[in-house]
Amino acid sequence: MQDLVMAAIAARSKAHAPYSKFFVGAAMRDEHGHVHAGCNIENAAYPQGWCAEPSAISHLIMSGGMRITEVVVMGNGNTLCTPCGGCRQKIREFASGDVKIHCCTEQGQLIRTFTLDELLPASFGPENLK
Ligand code: THU
Repeated sequence: MQDLVMAAIAARSKAHAPYSKFFVGAAMRDEHGHVHAGCNIENAAYPQGWCAEPSAISHLIMSGGMRITEVVVMGNGNTLCTPCGGCRQKIREFASGDVKIHCCTEQGQLIRTFTLDELLPASFGPENLK
């Protein structure tokens, strides 16, 4: 998990969050064991900004990954920064319910680990469309 933590810290340092001043870093491991990270990128037209998680998912997909197997997320200080509702659904697209989502402080200390099922119970996913 330490590689994910280091990647999330590095990604968070690149966050573009001049409006909320809430800097988020996310890192995800893919099915090949590779780590992909991303930050939140806000916009002067506020709704056009996006979260750290989709930034990381974009890197994962563009690198040839198709599955998310582990996630680290961190916000400001020691606040518990769980993925927002939309991000939970975005993660769901590529992750099974038992995937662990580690919420850490900005320094990388683990605060709490959730499974995706805990954060998004009875979720709707690709299987529902088969
Ligand atoms: N944010 C994320 O990047 N991920 C989340 O899951 C929660 C919220 C960002 C969006 C916005 O740039 C800032 O945090 C404040 O909401």
